[in-house]
Amino acid sequence: ALPRRVRLVEVGPRDGLQNEATPVATAVKIELIERLADAGLPAVEATSFVSPKWVPQMADAGDVLRAVLASPRRRPGVDFPVLTPNLRGFEAALAAGAREVAIFAAASERFSQTNINCSIADSLARFAPLADAAKAHGLRLRGYVSCVVGCPYEGAVAPAQVAAVVRELAALGCYEISLGDTIGVGTPRAVQRMIEACAAVVPVERLAGHYHDTYGMAVANVYASLELGVATFDAAIGGLGGCPYAAGASGNVATEDLVYLLHGLGIATGVDMDLLLDAGTFILAHLRREPLSKAARALLAA
Ligand code: HMG
Ligand code: MG
Repeated sequence: ALPRRVRLVEVGPRDGLQNEATPVATAVKIELIERLADAGLPAVEATSFVSPKWVPQMADAGDVLRAVLASPRRRPGVDFPVLTPNLRGFEAALAAGAREVAIFAAASERFSQTNINCSIADSLARFAPLADAAKAHGLRLRGYVSCVVGCPYEGAVAPAQVAAVVRELAALGCYEISLGDTIGVGTPRAVQRMIEACAAVVPVERLAGHYHDTYGMAVANVYASLELGVATFDAAIGGLGGCPYAAGASGNVATEDLVYLLHGLGIATGVDMDLLLDAGTFILAHLRREPLSKAARALLAA
């Protein structure tokens, strides 16, 4: 049986905007995050505390997070996780009031080098003091693994390689590990083989799916993951996004498409589709772009 309820983690303000060539005003980011929370999403990944030399679009991380947390519109119970690649990023996130941080590793060596400028082993060693600090301050720690099916530089990635990194992130104290098909090359059976390998090292309840939609497979891969009991998925409003260090990668599965799928299956998400569409219309107008989400296009035209 499929899960009866799914937790959606909206990553549009981070994964969606990190790759945008046009600068997005801090106030627009804040308004987007608030609209997404208003739509009923239980978690909105707000920003990332990374080097502004590497990712200039996230240079206002502290301002964004502070404003969202201090807002009179803030909804109780909504989580606002942020990415932190190192202790320096963690300290900045903590100072801005973060209650949840995410560390990000990769299942492929060359992607690790390109994305965070160190090997997989070095990244895990670098995360250890960050994980200790998160624990000491009572913050929740989430983990990401990139390139869980394929790598833009190394090609196919073996499920055992992914499971090995999942095991390490769990040992560091991550309550949940999000499995990133960074370049969206996965197909349902390959994704299931990967999840089976990961579910052999941590309970499936602690796994999340994070699927980019480069080849249009993300919704199918979500369904394949639901069949194995995965009940948390990352998605980006309007299908925005992509990783600046993954050539050719396009956005995450659109939140609108995922909500349409899940509600059609009778699976609860807590999300109000109309408010979600409003949030998408708002950010896409700022970016002067049409939604990539087919569900959004159909519903807005209706
Ligand atoms: P580095 O150059 O190896 O490290 O970068 P460094 O310690 O030598 O620092 C370089 C400069 O950055 C220094 O400045 C530091 O002070 C500064 P300088 O002395 O030259 O003026 N710096 C920082 N500034 C602000 N905040 C920080 C910070 N750390 C150092 N936290 C580092 C290493 C990891 C920092 C760098 O490679 C980096 O920031 N990478 C970020 C990459 C990134 O954001 N990628 C996208 C997110 S991951 C993703 O999208 C995948 C995901 O969606 C899942 C999936 O789809 O697979 C999660
Ligand atoms: Mg991603």
